[in-house]
Amino acid sequence: MLIIKNPIQLREQIKELKQKGKKIAFVPTMGNLHDGHLTLVREAKKRASIVVVSIFVNPMQFNNAQDLQNYPKTLNEDCAKLTAEGVNIVFTPEVETIYPNGLAAQSYVEVPVLSDCLEGELRPGHFRGMSTIVNKLFNLVQPDYACFGEKDFQQLAIVKQMVADLAMPIEIIPVATVREKNGLAMSSRNNKLSSSEKAQAPFLAKVMNQLALDVQSHKTELSILIDDACKELDNAGFHTDAIHIVDAQTLQTVNEHSQQAVILMAAFLGNTRLIDNKVISLNSPDTEIQG
Ligand code: PAF
Repeated sequence: MLIIKNPIQLREQIKELKQKGKKIAFVPTMGNLHDGHLTLVREAKKRASIVVVSIFVNPMQFNNAQDLQNYPKTLNEDCAKLTAEGVNIVFTPEVETIYPNGLAAQSYVEVPVLSDCLEGELRPGHFRGMSTIVNKLFNLVQPDYACFGEKDFQQLAIVKQMVADLAMPIEIIPVATVREKNGLAMSSRNNKLSSSEKAQAPFLAKVMNQLALDVQSHKTELSILIDDACKELDNAGFHTDAIHIVDAQTLQTVNEHSQQAVILMAAFLGNTRLIDNKVISLNSPDTEIQG
């Protein structure tokens, strides 16, 4: 496995591979890899003979300096895991080579509407930073395929929109959320949970699954179901940050044309913000969503 820090060296490698007619599948990450990331890598391997993984903690998508500083860096362990998965190239650039003129002078890519709602409202600038780095990494890696987890549902929607809007010749592969046996969605943030919080954390997915059933089977207003789910989480020791049920394609209010809705959950357990989501089909004749 090649570990490349320098974007110019990466370009040379990619050029050689492309000249040989190789297909490239790409998995962008911020490191601290867990089984969720490795599942993305395995999906990438199914698509192309060359798999490139990037590890770059992108300062442009953090709106909290403390969060950026505390982001876990585990490069040696990450590289060992990626070697075991048969990854061909790991790209680990420095901030200075990615943003040589500093963040304030950096051109950016912004996907309007999808970036402004939901998480985008709570974390101003986050999705602009994310779409900018993904765009830059796409330009450097020039992948045929790129794998993104469904766990970050809004991120995936934004990346798909960016690729479509800017006619990028890349197929985006959505990969289902990987869960612990107890239902907890895998995330680098789970490492920050204390042992008692780890025991509580799966309750988030439990409440979400119940909410999905309630949305599909009851004719109760969404706002009441959401309030009940918030109360249930808060009573169990969470601090609910947001629960939204929106059209899974547009991320806007569900309406009579919506085929699928998505439940998006965010709740703090101690200082750790956990997120999860679930897509619900609205095609069933029993499902009638009320305002
Ligand atoms: O999902 C992530 O880890 C990041 O947002 C990504 C896509 C690697 C961009 O920095």
